[in-house]
Amino acid sequence: MPLIRFGVSIEKGLLARFDRLIRDKEYTNRSEAFRDLIRKELVLEQWQGSHEIAGAITLIYNHHKRELVNKLMDIQHDFGDSIISSQHIHLDHDNCLEVIAVKGSPQQAQKLADSLKSVKGVKHGTLSMSTTGKGV
Ligand code: NI
Repeated sequence: MPLIRFGVSIEKGLLARFDRLIRDKEYTNRSEAFRDLIRKELVLEQWQGSHEIAGAITLIYNHHKRELVNKLMDIQHDFGDSIISSQHIHLDHDNCLEVIAVKGSPQQAQKLADSLKSVKGVKHGTLSMSTTGKGV
């Protein structure tokens, strides 16, 4: 796609803070940082609307907890349409890391993440809201 150049008016202090921020985040220039900010907003909009999204749910749990693994499995079968892949990693003797890749309805993905995180014995859960890459 062709690149368009345009001017932005911004307060000196705000720009100085932006420059400090993007330096800390190791952006090589303002343009790339600005493009990422725009994409971040577009992805957020996709998650708030009815666009198709992609993302990942991560869970940390102790597999020795009674019924926990079965419950997590039951929930994932109920949301089979949203799940495109999952990976189970045995972190140590007790703890497991599960990464579940999701695609489809943002509401379903959120509901799936909430259901999994709320199962008793899940120590930590995150939902990484990303995009299929279309429209951003
Ligand atoms: Ni395990």
